[in-house]
Amino acid sequence: MKGVILAGGTGTRLAPLTKLVNKHLLPAGKYPMIHYAVAKLADAGIEDILLVIGKQSAGLFIDYLGGGKPWGVRLTYRIQEEAGGIAQGLALAEGFVAPGEKMVVLLGDNLFEDDLKPLVEKFGAQEQGAMVVLKEVDDLNRYGVPVFLRDSIIFIEEKPSTPKSGYCVTGIYMYDSGVFDTIRKIRPSPRGEMEITDVNNVYAMEGRLRYGVLNGWWTDAGTFDSLREAGEKLSAGKGGER
Ligand code: G1P
Repeated sequence: MKGVILAGGTGTRLAPLTKLVNKHLLPAGKYPMIHYAVAKLADAGIEDILLVIGKQSAGLFIDYLGGGKPWGVRLTYRIQEEAGGIAQGLALAEGFVAPGEKMVVLLGDNLFEDDLKPLVEKFGAQEQGAMVVLKEVDDLNRYGVPVFLRDSIIFIEEKPSTPKSGYCVTGIYMYDSGVFDTIRKIRPSPRGEMEITDVNNVYAMEGRLRYGVLNGWWTDAGTFDSLREAGEKLSAGKGGER
């Protein structure tokens, strides 16, 4: 299975720091944020990883991660020219992920405690389709939130005002290579982005979206508060070091 880390984006909620350096290079615990996504994939046995980055700080990513040798992985880089959404970034992995191959996709600002290996193995054994990874949270209206019918996800609502479940969809996704055709079918949302939730909803409507659930702590470190909180947990040695 291939790995894809999406680390483009402008990080406006972390300005003014992100005027100087890309969000994914800001410190979280002892390391720059991007360190953890690479380590999580490496620990799950993913050896070939594509990093989708923006033009900002591109050289710094390479300074820190190089070709991936310290983690025992091979890194490839692609540039997302403008911030047009998660699905637009993922589209750049076409060609890196061959037809018939599967992929694990991580948003580079998602920091978490769980080992991904059991979920990656579960998805490896799944026929075709996609898997999202859920976490119970309080601040549901910041995220994609699944709507369940019995034990299946039938729809995901992006940033709902009245959430239909207590789970958010984290930035950990798994897809078959059909995802690239699916991305071509969707259109930008009202906020002008190619939404990963729209991609996931195509799989949900086809009855091909499965899910896993995280047990440990998880945070989308896109704000000062969540970044500080994640930094404290990581400094206490809870998750993601390597
Ligand atoms: C994105 C997704 C959202 C998901 C979140 C997880 O939100 O659109 O569904 O719950 O990542 O971090 P964004 O960070 O683009 O607002």
